[in-house]
Amino acid sequence: MSEARLIIVDDEPVVLQLLAAVFRGEEGLQVVRCADGASALAAIEEGVDVLLTDKNLPDVGGLELARRAKERQPDSEVIIITGYASLDTALAAMELDVFDYIVKPPKDILDVKRKVKQALDKQAMSRENKRLMSDLTQRNLELERALTELKEVQAELIQSEKLAGIGTLAAGIAHEISSPLFGVMGLAEAILDEEERELVRGYASEIVEYARSIKDIVVQLSGYSRAAESEYHTTIDLPKVVEDAVKLVVRSTSFDPARVRLEVEDPGGGLYVNARTSEIQQVFVNLVKNAIEAVVDRYGPGGGCVTVRVGATPAPRAAVFAEVADDGAGIPADRLAVIFDPFYTTKPPGRGTGLGLNIVYRILTKYRGQITVESTEGEGTTFHVRFPIEPDPVTSGD
Ligand SMILES: Nc1ncnc2c1ncn2[C@@H]1O[C@H](COP(=O)(O)OP(=O)(O)OP(=O)(O)O)[C@@H](O)[C@H]1O
Ligand SMILES: [Mg+2]
Repeated sequence: MSEARLIIVDDEPVVLQLLAAVFRGEEGLQVVRCADGASALAAIEEGVDVLLTDKNLPDVGGLELARRAKERQPDSEVIIITGYASLDTALAAMELDVFDYIVKPPKDILDVKRKVKQALDKQAMSRENKRLMSDLTQRNLELERALTELKEVQAELIQSEKLAGIGTLAAGIAHEISSPLFGVMGLAEAILDEEERELVRGYASEIVEYARSIKDIVVQLSGYSRAAESEYHTTIDLPKVVEDAVKLVVRSTSFDPARVRLEVEDPGGGLYVNARTSEIQQVFVNLVKNAIEAVVDRYGPGGGCVTVRVGATPAPRAAVFAEVADDGAGIPADRLAVIFDPFYTTKPPGRGTGLGLNIVYRILTKYRGQITVESTEGEGTTFHVRFPIEPDPVTSGD
């Protein structure tokens, strides 16, 4: 800390000397003596921490010096030395925020020292307070800035989350539309090569089916989705939908159809599910497609098999179930927990989006269905799907 500057002003040389002597050897204190008001003014201009001044000076009065000191350095402290403490002096001093008085001649010279010391202490404290205050203001500013930044980052995050959501949605739509589109393309190509009129008619009506399921997806996206939902939501015959799904997938791959087995075990009462046909088909398209891909992954195009079973749990009937089993590559145990996550895929870019099982999961949850998986790496995988049991079919013909 720099030295405190004490200016002592008195026109009586003896008093001035006496006062200055009190502070001789005082550390951290620079003492400036002035014998008149004019030299005191000059000294004040160079800085003042404490002004100890006689009130009555021949040229410039002590109170005037006090005023100038406060002007020059607002936190300076002033101690007035006066021959008598008149009311006038007291009031004027108060107005100038004078720290203290000393009545002349000082009874105890050490009392002067004590008062200067107190003035310095008060000043140091108020300077410290000021410093703390400005520190605090600075910190507050920094905090405010940090808060603003945080809010901006948060807004950005929310925005990118939304974008990610839109991305997921778009990728999901692309995925859903791609399977029926695949069917349409396969059948259209088949028609090109087909001479027999009856077969062409059959293909064409299948094309109409696929085109409808694409329309379903589009309708679902449009504002009409609510109305459309009840329109298409109906009791469906599960084995029929599963069979269609298997056909669709097999047709879109070069996999030998003989290697895909479909087993239906109806204990009586029918195997009905209350849902949208296109969505349930979507579930099995994805499961069978994955199964075939896993088998091809293990054996190449030539070997392996996929078994699809549809049935109901025995009386009391609690659920309609379906299983898609393959003897393909299998799933490592530590990956089982993530296969339903969106974008989890082990397939090369362009061959898999990692959305298939996520869509399956979302559709099944919507219909209060369940899906579980059992898999042994290098041996095969079975997906178990369960739907809550439905009463007798009411309508069909979705
Ligand atoms: N039957 C299965 N056998 C072995 N692994 C499977 C099987 N089904 C799913 N998987 C694993 O789970 C991952 C996720 O499957 P999911 O169907 O969600 O996406 P994908 O098949 O990779 O891509 P997409 O279905 O979008 O084309 C697959 O990449 C694969 O590693
Ligand atoms: Mg898949």
